[in-house]
Amino acid sequence: MPENTPVPLAVGSHDLPVSPALADFMTRGWAASPPPDAASVPAGRLTTRSNDCDHRFRPHSAYACLTGLAGEDQCDHVLVLEPSGTTGHEPVLYVRPRSPRDGAAFYRDRRHGEFWVGRRPDLAEAERLTGIRCLPLDRLPALLSGPRPPTRLLRGVDPALDHAVHGAAHRGVADHGAAHRDAELAAVLGELRLVKDPWEIAQLQLAVDHTTAGFEDVVRALPRALRHPRGERWIEGVFGLRARAEGNGTGYETIAASGAHACVLHWTRNDGALDPGSLLLLDAGVETDTLYTADITRTLPLSGRFSPVQRQVYELVLAAQDAGIAALRPGASFRDFHRAAMRVVAEGLADWGVLKVSADEALDADSGRHRRYTLCGSGHMLGLDVHDCATARRETYLDGVLDVGHVLTVEPGLYLQPDDETLPPELRGIGVRVEDDLVITEDGARLLSSALPRAASAVEEWMGALLES
Ligand code: GLY
Ligand code: MN
Ligand code: MN
Repeated sequence: MPENTPVPLAVGSHDLPVSPALADFMTRGWAASPPPDAASVPAGRLTTRSNDCDHRFRPHSAYACLTGLAGEDQCDHVLVLEPSGTTGHEPVLYVRPRSPRDGAAFYRDRRHGEFWVGRRPDLAEAERLTGIRCLPLDRLPALLSGPRPPTRLLRGVDPALDHAVHGAAHRGVADHGAAHRDAELAAVLGELRLVKDPWEIAQLQLAVDHTTAGFEDVVRALPRALRHPRGERWIEGVFGLRARAEGNGTGYETIAASGAHACVLHWTRNDGALDPGSLLLLDAGVETDTLYTADITRTLPLSGRFSPVQRQVYELVLAAQDAGIAALRPGASFRDFHRAAMRVVAEGLADWGVLKVSADEALDADSGRHRRYTLCGSGHMLGLDVHDCATARRETYLDGVLDVGHVLTVEPGLYLQPDDETLPPELRGIGVRVEDDLVITEDGARLLSSALPRAASAVEEWMGALLES
């Protein structure tokens, strides 16, 4: 409807007609809507390992998500979303230009000089790669110290940018609303990654496929690892070789836990020998060059065969995982799959006589006794971060519902500590986790990691075939 056309009265309406004078009066005297805030999303800074050596750089996942840039050469870069129009933003990427050959940086700057770390794209190349307008990084300080719309910042990623945007020297007065507005930005940046698009799901499938290959490498390497005094490290190294060769590396520190080390939830020291009669809990994921990671756990009998008691624990965990996976569907509460898995665990522990109360009593919110043996949640969102979307608001994630395109892990475990006197001796020191990666579909969930066997006998057959090959 053209702007000045009178709005017709609804048929039968008792609203009074609007006079031309009132119509004119109604269009004037309103305060302008505040313009949207700017937003700054940094890639992050190099961190010193020692002296003039740095840790390998990985851009922050929010930056990688918004720019598609994932390389080590992104350090210090900042994406700024400038208000544009009444509600929109124009993205501008501040990047380090190539070092000119008439200066000294290209051969003297150990961190960024192209003779030290390699060529990087010039501004025009960066624009072609991203479709985002690019400006030289050294223009950013002047921009930030000049008159600006309020700027929201992804905090804690780039200390220099934190200071430039919010530092007391710059603002002069504390801005008590800034922390809240920045937290809102972080929440949005987490939430926009909850639903993965088809390209992202393909990247996650690629990460899973490389991870599957890495697990196969590990099984083939077991005879050698069993002979090494730090067999866990050997396994970490074998998986890391696959991760680094096929992708950017591992998406998190590999957990290679033999025997009772499997009862330590994040055992990443990996400095133990492999006990041939024990289980190996391997929790590992390849991160693609685009920075999407898998997160998979298999618990393998190092002898190639589960002992009866190992199988008993394994099959309870697997049944819990089956129940968790069966609870995945769009519209289900995010917490449902954990509840389903924990019911199976609690019933199993009660049947074994480990729980001295009924499963129902243990599962009561005021009790939770079974949690002595499970300790952690049964899964999380997966994507650019292994624990993806962690800044999303509770109501959209932990207290929210599953949606088509969510990618998550289901990973129940039982961690029967070696010194736990509530357990029969034969169960002590056994740790089992089974972790798979799934995408929520219209009618349930699709297993991305189906190439790795889950059932105990299928695991034994798979190991046998790999060890013979
Ligand atoms: N590898 C960490 C986790 O499973 O959450
Ligand atoms: Mn996980
Ligand atoms: Mn894991």
